[in-house]
Amino acid sequence: YLNIIIASIIGYLLGSIPFALVIGKLFYNTDVREYGSGNLGGSNAGRVLGKKAAISVIALDVLKVVLAAGIVAYFLEPAASIWAGLFAAIGHCYPIFAGFRGGKAVATMFGFLLSSAIFTFQDPWMLFVPLGVFLVILLLFKMVSLASIFAAVTQAIYISFITEYTSAIVASILLAVLVIFRHIPNIKRIANGTEAKVGWLTKNK
Ligand code: G3P
Repeated sequence: YLNIIIASIIGYLLGSIPFALVIGKLFYNTDVREYGSGNLGGSNAGRVLGKKAAISVIALDVLKVVLAAGIVAYFLEPAASIWAGLFAAIGHCYPIFAGFRGGKAVATMFGFLLSSAIFTFQDPWMLFVPLGVFLVILLLFKMVSLASIFAAVTQAIYISFITEYTSAIVASILLAVLVIFRHIPNIKRIANGTEAKVGWLTKNK
């Protein structure tokens, strides 16, 4: 259990780095928490700061998870990297470095899937199936939140079906619960038709 605890701490600390806040303050002199949805994530960085910031934040948020899982896989044990990934997503939502008010665990969920695909399962579909669902829902409905919720459910179902590895199943289900829980305000907005749509996908309409 010691490895799991160390993995979780490494994951939590790296996941807590609030890249939406860092990129916003460093390069745009803007606190993205004060604009848009107020969320510390790629979508809101894009909404407030633009496409370049969104891509940077998403890439860094994915990378921090892969880094945490990679460190654990190589220096501790590959099996414990699952917990590093899960706790990186938890750190992202409740960051110790930003007053415990962070993001919604979408980019970090994809980081978890990427790192699990690489370090634990050697199965690229673990990433590509939920990512495919995400992109299809995004193109159809133009809402990142809705696409994220569908992707979260998909990855939990996929991982539950393809593996008997209990900790991976538990982690992926907890991750789905976390993503859905963090999207409750979005779900309310989707229900009453006021959820924001992604600008660059709707611009030509
Ligand atoms: O980035 C998370 C996304 O699913 C929703 O973010 O800012 O639109 O609430 P936001």
